Amino acid sequence: MAHDPSNTQRTLTVGLLGLGVVGSGVATLLRDHADEIAGRVGARLEIGPVVVRDVNKSRDVDVAVTDDVSTVVGAEGVDIVVEVMGGIDPARELLTRALKAGQSVVTANKELISTHGAELLTAAQEHSVRLEYEAAVAGAIPIIKPMRESLAGDRVRKVLGILNGTTNYILTRMTEEGAELAPVLADAQALGYAEADPTADVGGHDAAAKAAILASLAFDAHVVRDDVYTEGIMSVTATDIANAKRMGYVIKLLGIAEEHEDASIGVRVHPAWIPTSHPLASIREAYNAIFVEADAAGDLMFYGRGAGSLPTASAVVGDVVTAARAMLAGERLPSVAVADKPIRPVDEEIVQYYLLLDVADEAGVLSRVAATFGDHDVSIKSVWQEGEGDQAQLLLITHAAREGNVRACVEALKDLSDVNAIASSMRVEDRREG
Ligand SMILES: NC(=O)c1ccc[n+]([C@@H]2O[C@H](COP(=O)([O-])OP(=O)(O)OC[C@H]3O[C@@H](n4cnc5c(N)ncnc54)[C@H](OP(=O)(O)O)[C@@H]3O)[C@@H](O)[C@H]2O)c1
Repeated sequence: MAHDPSNTQRTLTVGLLGLGVVGSGVATLLRDHADEIAGRVGARLEIGPVVVRDVNKSRDVDVAVTDDVSTVVGAEGVDIVVEVMGGIDPARELLTRALKAGQSVVTANKELISTHGAELLTAAQEHSVRLEYEAAVAGAIPIIKPMRESLAGDRVRKVLGILNGTTNYILTRMTEEGAELAPVLADAQALGYAEADPTADVGGHDAAAKAAILASLAFDAHVVRDDVYTEGIMSVTATDIANAKRMGYVIKLLGIAEEHEDASIGVRVHPAWIPTSHPLASIREAYNAIFVEADAAGDLMFYGRGAGSLPTASAVVGDVVTAARAMLAGERLPSVAVADKPIRPVDEEIVQYYLLLDVADEAGVLSRVAATFGDHDVSIKSVWQEGEGDQAQLLLITHAAREGNVRACVEALKDLSDVNAIASSMRVEDRREG
């Protein structure tokens, strides 16, 4: 027989820290989906106190607000705390207090989880409450629960993600319009796709926080944001994109997390060429996607909106439901043994490279350049010679080689009198290379 939500007598109270973009969506969903949620949880979820910084600001949703955190954190009668304020301080201290007071916590805060997630998870374990953070990685896309639960019987080898909508939007427009980055970024800011200060997005830092969280989950390891080698997209040019296109690739900002044979973990964020045949190549505009390579499951891809009020709120409220159900069933957070796995320095990674060199238009240049590659144990897969005179260029794609060797080779190339400049260099992520 269908469950009748009106029979659900019990009520759990959800306190909110923050009523901005995500908080407003959370309040809206808790209100608009109240009956379905009650039916799914077996208790009604009521919005409790809502804490903001400025109580005088006008709001999109009609809920009472306060600036007194003690009405939520550690407050009698508040069962679940939803943190959608952002930032490390005071969120870290407030959530620690909430967990210690026996409140379950749901957060969308990637910055906090990617730096202090381990200590918060420990506090949640110690106090038999839940800490959920689905929205901290790729907004609406379910990826934390699939990693933690659905793939718990498998072994994940590698995770590749388009984890930042702003940069994917910019790269999509550059690819489709042949445009340079600066005008597309300015337009993205005007349209609200990019922040006035876009550093966190275009610098790769936002994606790095998410990559750290994914690596920790995928490999049962302790990976923090500072472990992630990070390069942003500011140096990507229309020429790079056109060259990639001609060779059958597209350029994406990727978060890559990998467990190597020696159990070391490589985790990096940088722009990369990927073959147009790769499922991630088709992810356009501000969408996010996460591609998982697992031993038994094979390839999986998770796709959707990585940000926005209601999409992000969907993940947050899903977590609230998880926390509420666990509370009613007396279920603790699953305890996962986390190993101390070393982080592989980026110089030790085995990578393929695209290099574009401005060269002198003279006989013998190619052989001198090729000899420099050979000296550094980097073998060339393909090379094209383009332009003439001042415009002469060599476009090279290497085979997979040790990153440190490629870097040393690039330094040596700069010293060759034939090489006027390294016009561009970018990693190629192509598993056909092995
Ligand atoms: N926006 C997205 O699409 C998205 C997607 C995924 C994850 N997230 C994450 O979700 C979190 C919230 O993002 P958002 O975009 O909703 O931020 P936002 O629009 O700036 O909202 C932040 C809210 O928190 C309140 N707040 C901030 N600091 C406070 C403090 N010290 N004390 C009390 N209240 C405080 C603000 O109060 P006032 O309203 O009074 O200023 C505001 O209501 C962040 O961790 C973000 O990384 C966001």
